[in-house]
Amino acid sequence: MTKFADIKGFVFDLDGVITDTSILHGTAWHQLADSLGVAWSDELANGLKGISRMDSLEMILKAGGKENDYTQAEKEQLATQKNTNYVAEVDKMTPANILPGMKAFLDDLRAKGYQLSLASASKNAPRVLGKLQLADYFPKIVDPASLTHGKPDPEIYTKGAELLNLPANQCIGVEDAAAGVAAINAAGEVSLGIGDATELGAADMVFADTAEVTLDNIAKKLG
Ligand code: G6P
Ligand code: MG
Repeated sequence: MTKFADIKGFVFDLDGVITDTSILHGTAWHQLADSLGVAWSDELANGLKGISRMDSLEMILKAGGKENDYTQAEKEQLATQKNTNYVAEVDKMTPANILPGMKAFLDDLRAKGYQLSLASASKNAPRVLGKLQLADYFPKIVDPASLTHGKPDPEIYTKGAELLNLPANQCIGVEDAAAGVAAINAAGEVSLGIGDATELGAADMVFADTAEVTLDNIAKKLG
């Protein structure tokens, strides 16, 4: 098992980790599901965390038994509709939307010389970082368009470590989604989950809240 002293880099998810956009994604998908007559549930909402735009749409259609009701062109239109609603909300964001403690954590990581990269499935990640005024912290972003497989496949986290020129076991991956924790584990990185300990039970360490994510607390858990 990796020791805290071996850690040199952090590979971050964005939505639900650095900012509360997972709520905005959920609201925009919920709206679309309502318009399609697909019943919404917390389980469906949680299952969509970390999942790419088109895969999310497929999951929603499947949940409603409607996976064969639309052509590819119609599906793309539905995904665009969701994205238009989502982006309108993103454009209202300010640095006040950074989750508690995350700015201080990023500042501490930077001051102590840890390397940072972003492993978000979102094509809107650069836009969100801009709104939060955090773009400077993440010059290294995995391009989700370059991926063959989404989370829980390890590809995005493997690429996140490669951008830092670090071996996987010297990186901590930070996630709020079960699919993301699975991706980090499969990439051979140390997994830090933020959220419900049962949902994120596969993580090497879980914090209930972003405010608890500090280097001291990580060191205590990792040893
Ligand atoms: C993140 C979010 C997902 C979202 C995905 C794609 O992984 O957790 O909820 O569907 O990004 O985001 P995008 O902005 O490209 O539609
Ligand atoms: Mg997330």
